Amino acid sequence: MATVLDRSAPPAEIVRLGPNHGAELRGIELARGVTPAVAETIKRAFWEHPVLVLRGQAGLDPERLIEFGNAFGYIEPHSILQYRHPVHEQLSYVTNVKPDGTLDEYGQSQRAIDWHIDGTFKAKPDCITFLYSIAAPSTGGRTQFTNMRLACETLPPALRRRIDGLRCFHKRGEGWKCTAPPPPLTEAQKATGEFEGAEHPIVIVHPETGRESLYISPTHTPGVVGLSRADSDALLDELYAHAIRPEFQYHHEWRVGDLVLWDQRCNMHRAGGGTPRNEKRVMLRGMIVSTLDANGG
Ligand SMILES: [Fe+2]
Repeated sequence: MATVLDRSAPPAEIVRLGPNHGAELRGIELARGVTPAVAETIKRAFWEHPVLVLRGQAGLDPERLIEFGNAFGYIEPHSILQYRHPVHEQLSYVTNVKPDGTLDEYGQSQRAIDWHIDGTFKAKPDCITFLYSIAAPSTGGRTQFTNMRLACETLPPALRRRIDGLRCFHKRGEGWKCTAPPPPLTEAQKATGEFEGAEHPIVIVHPETGRESLYISPTHTPGVVGLSRADSDALLDELYAHAIRPEFQYHHEWRVGDLVLWDQRCNMHRAGGGTPRNEKRVMLRGMIVSTLDANGG
C-alpha cells in the first residue's frame, strides 16, 4: 500500500517491499539535487523503514552520492585503502572485479556471506550505509537484511530481561559464529589502532526514534562481557536464532541505478551469493558515522 507524504515536500510515496522489512521511496530523483526538502523526505521515510530503496537513479556521479551521504552525517573513508574510490575517498567499491578486470572468486562467493553489522568493532561504528549499483548480475548477488528492531521488540519477555544491561565485546572477524573471516589486516592497518575492538550494549537505543534494537554481529562479536564462553555462546545463539526468522528479513535483488540505504543500528545483513561466475557486480558504498545509541555505546 502506498502512503503519500507531506504535500510541501517532493511528491514521494513509500511502497513496502516485504511484509515486515524493506521499503521503496518513489518520486525522488537524486540527479536533480539533494535539497533540504529532499533530504528531509528521505530521512522521515528512513527512520520508519531502516532499509530504504531508491530505484532508477542510474548515472549519479560520485559528487552527488557524497552530497546524498552528507545529508545524513560524516562519511568515513573505508579503513581498507584498496577498497577506496581512487579520487573520492569517502566512497569505496563493493565489487567482484579485480583491478586487472578479471573477476575475483573471493568477492564472488566468500565476502560478507555471514550475517553481520558493519564496524561494530570500532568505538564509533558505522551507523548508516548506502550502496549504489553500477553493474548488477542477471541473477543472484542479493543483499539480505534482517530487522533487528523488530527482533528486539518481539523477544520473549524472559529473554529480554536476561539481556538487560549486558554488553558485548566486538572484534573484527572474531565473532562467535564467523565462518568466512574477512581478509587479514596488513601491518599498516593494524598500526592504525582502529581494530583493537570495542564494547557496546546488546540492546541499543536509536537516537532518532528512541526505539530499541538488538546489536550483535555474528562475524564480529566474540562474546558477552562477564559470561563464560559456553554461556555467552548459548545466549548469543538464542538471540541469533530469533533475529534471523524469515519473517523479519528482506532480500534485495539489485538493478543498475538502485540506491539502497540501511541503518546499521537496526539491521544485520549479509551477501546472498549466487552471482554467476562470468558476471560483474559493482557498487559504490558510503558509510556514515554518527552516534550509536543514547546510553554510552
Ligand atoms: Fe557488510
